[in-house]
Amino acid sequence: MRIGILGGGRVGSALAATWRERGHDVSVSSRDTVAETAGPVDVVVLALPARAVAEALAAAGPLDGKVLVDATNNVSGGPGGLEIAALAPGARYVKAFNTVFATFMHETPPERPASLVLCGDDDGAKGITAELVRDLGFEPVDVGGSDQTPLVEALAHLVIRLAYTQGRGFFVYRFEPR
Ligand SMILES: NC(=O)c1ccc[n+]([C@@H]2O[C@H](COP(=O)([O-])OP(=O)(O)OC[C@H]3O[C@@H](n4cnc5c(N)ncnc54)[C@H](OP(=O)(O)O)[C@@H]3O)[C@@H](O)[C@H]2O)c1
Repeated sequence: MRIGILGGGRVGSALAATWRERGHDVSVSSRDTVAETAGPVDVVVLALPARAVAEALAAAGPLDGKVLVDATNNVSGGPGGLEIAALAPGARYVKAFNTVFATFMHETPPERPASLVLCGDDDGAKGITAELVRDLGFEPVDVGGSDQTPLVEALAHLVIRLAYTQGRGFFVYRFEPR
């Protein structure tokens, strides 16, 4: 899979390292190479601050037909996922990877797969994203259409609050059937 990641910080560099190990063709943008990174790929991943997304999508140009995976959390301001999806109307938007800490995106805990929730309206795009989740060593949990995006973002906010405010530290979660 040809993957272009916009943002080469903690999330972008960890995802790139893992997916390259799994054989994907991954490029990571700097601020100056957004269009070159997004242009030739099948999957574009947003791994930058939410407040930078509008600028980055404008620089990326049309993403019609591409899978657009949104890993952002607007903890420091910026648009939420529904607004982000509306900025790229031709893209196949999926919200994913925002509820897991970057530290586990390359060094996945070796126990039974932890869960990672995703949502979106395009089943094909969700299938591609689910494979990328498995490549990371997680179990993809499809929680529904894009109308679930605010809930997935709320879960991320809860996860972040548990880690930082309640002092739990970094953790993964797993939905285990009984
Ligand atoms: N850290 C986590 O555990 C985690 C987990 C899940 C989701 N998230 C979310 O994922 C996103 C990225 O988080 P992060 O922790 O990776 O942040 P980070 O370490 O601060 O990295 C952000 C990256 O985005 C780049 N960037 C900023 N503005 C840009 C622009 N206009 N065009 C292109 N690149 C730009 C930055 O480049 P410069 O170096 O030039 O500033 C930097 O490489 C955030 O929305 C965050 O909420 C984070």
